[in-house]
Amino acid sequence: MKKVLISLTLAALLSSPLAIAKEASSEKQANTAVQFRKAVLQLVRSNMGALGGMAKGKIEYNADVMNTNAMRIEQLALMMGDYFETDTRKFDVKTDADDAIWEQMEDFNSKIQDMVGAAENLQKIALAKDEANYRKTIGALGSTCKACHDKFKTD
Ligand code: HEC
Repeated sequence: MKKVLISLTLAALLSSPLAIAKEASSEKQANTAVQFRKAVLQLVRSNMGALGGMAKGKIEYNADVMNTNAMRIEQLALMMGDYFETDTRKFDVKTDADDAIWEQMEDFNSKIQDMVGAAENLQKIALAKDEANYRKTIGALGSTCKACHDKFKTD
């Protein structure tokens, strides 16, 4: 019985993360959704700053900071699906989000998954104190930002 419950729970967990677009119900709700998703991305930016500095050699290599920031970026990326599921296309909101997000949610979500994976890799490199590969791995994380921005961000 216990085993059955565990596998049911696992099945539910595995099938739940795919976000489905939900239309914002008012301009107020749409504005709040925009505010929240930008806030998540501002936190991503604040954690990416030191990593970018390390990759460029402007900030001293520090495996602890790298691990902490990569962990935060992973957590923030895991929130992005939820924070982007509110479809704000109908409202006049101040956003750089491209309409294509809500037309191609699957692709958007797979780009989020790429970001999660790259942040996980960076944690591994940081924990292993792998000084030969951290620059490349930070670069790989940065290219997941660009891949999504090129397609789904308007400016
Ligand atoms: C899956 C897609 C996706 C990924 C991956 C992604 N972003 Fe973005 N990002 C967006 C979209 C869409 C916006 C526009 C949001 C809006 O204006 O409503 C955005 C906006 C931003 C903003 C501006 C927020 C604001 O206040 O207007 C920053 C900063 C940012 N992203 C940084 C990053 C960094 C750094 C990474 C990688 C570590 C990253 N993003 C990865 C989709 C993504």
